[in-house]
Amino acid sequence: MKALLLLFLAFGYVGSSVYSSCSQSPLNWCSSVDSAVECGVLKSCLHSNYTKSQQTDDPVEVGLYYESLCPGCRQFLVMMLFPTAVLLNDIMVVNLVPFGNAQEVKQDEKYVFTCQHGEQECLGNMIETCLMNMSKRAFPIIFCMESSSDVINSAKACTGVYDPTLSWDKVMSCVNGPQGNQLMHQNALETAALKPPHQYVPWITINGEHTDDLQDKAMNSLLSLVCSMYKGTKPAACGGSQMHYKTYCQKV
Ligand SMILES: *[C@@H]1O[C@H](CO)[C@@H](O)[C@H](O)[C@H]1NC(C)=O
Ligand SMILES: *[C@@H]1O[C@H](CO)[C@@H](O)[C@H](O)[C@H]1NC(C)=O
Repeated sequence: MKALLLLFLAFGYVGSSVYSSCSQSPLNWCSSVDSAVECGVLKSCLHSNYTKSQQTDDPVEVGLYYESLCPGCRQFLVMMLFPTAVLLNDIMVVNLVPFGNAQEVKQDEKYVFTCQHGEQECLGNMIETCLMNMSKRAFPIIFCMESSSDVINSAKACTGVYDPTLSWDKVMSCVNGPQGNQLMHQNALETAALKPPHQYVPWITINGEHTDDLQDKAMNSLLSLVCSMYKGTKPAACGGSQMHYKTYCQKV
C-alpha cells in the first residue's frame, strides 16, 4: 500500500514537471488516474474522489407546509430554511407546499380557494406555486418575495433578478389559469394527506415525518438537525475539524 502510494506520488511529481503532457480541460483532470497523473493533480483527485464517495447518502428532505403571508412562516423561511439550504446544499432538499390553513371547494370545473390571510395570500401562494413549476430558481425567488416588505408586489422584480429569462406574463397566465388551479389543488391534497394532520403553520416535516420534537429542533436550529440526521460524511458547514471560516482582512 505504502509502495503504491509512493509510486503515485512519484508519477504525480513527474506529471507536474512535464506539464505539457496535460491535454485535458480542468473539468476532466480527475476523470482517470492517467489524466490525473499527467496533469499533476493525482493527490487532489484521490482526495476529492474519496470525499464524493462518502457523500452518496440520501439527502435529508425538509418539507415546509406554509402560507405566503403568515408571519411565522415568513420568518422561518427567510431566517432559517433558506440560509440552511444554502449552507447544506449537498445534503438537503427542500419541498415547499404553499397552502397551509387554506380551504378549497370545487365549483363547476375548477377549485375556489379561501385563505386565512385573505385573497392576497391566495395570490401569493399561487404565484409561488407557479414559480416552482416554471423556474429552477424558484426557491431564491420565493426567499426574495418573503423577505420583502410587500410579498406580492416584489414578486415580479424578484423573478427578474433571479430568473431574468422567465417571462412574467407566462407566470401570470399560470396564476390566473387552469394550470395554477390544478397545481394548487395538488398542494391542497398534499397538505390534507399529512399524518398527523397539521395543526398550525409553519408545519415542518423531516423525511416526510412530523413530530413535536422534530418541529422544535427545526425551528431552533435546522442546521444542527439536518447535520445530525444526515448519515454520510458531514460537510464542512456542519462544523467539526474541517471548519475554517476564520479568515480576516487586515485593516491597513
Ligand atoms: C475518480 O472517480 C471517477 C469516477 O468514479 C473515476 O473514473 C476516476 O478514475 C477517479 N479518479 C482518480 C484519479 O482516481
Ligand atoms: C408543471 O405542471 C404540469 C401540470 O400542469 C406538470 O405536468 C409538470 O410536470 C410540472 N412541471 C414541473 C417541473 O413541476
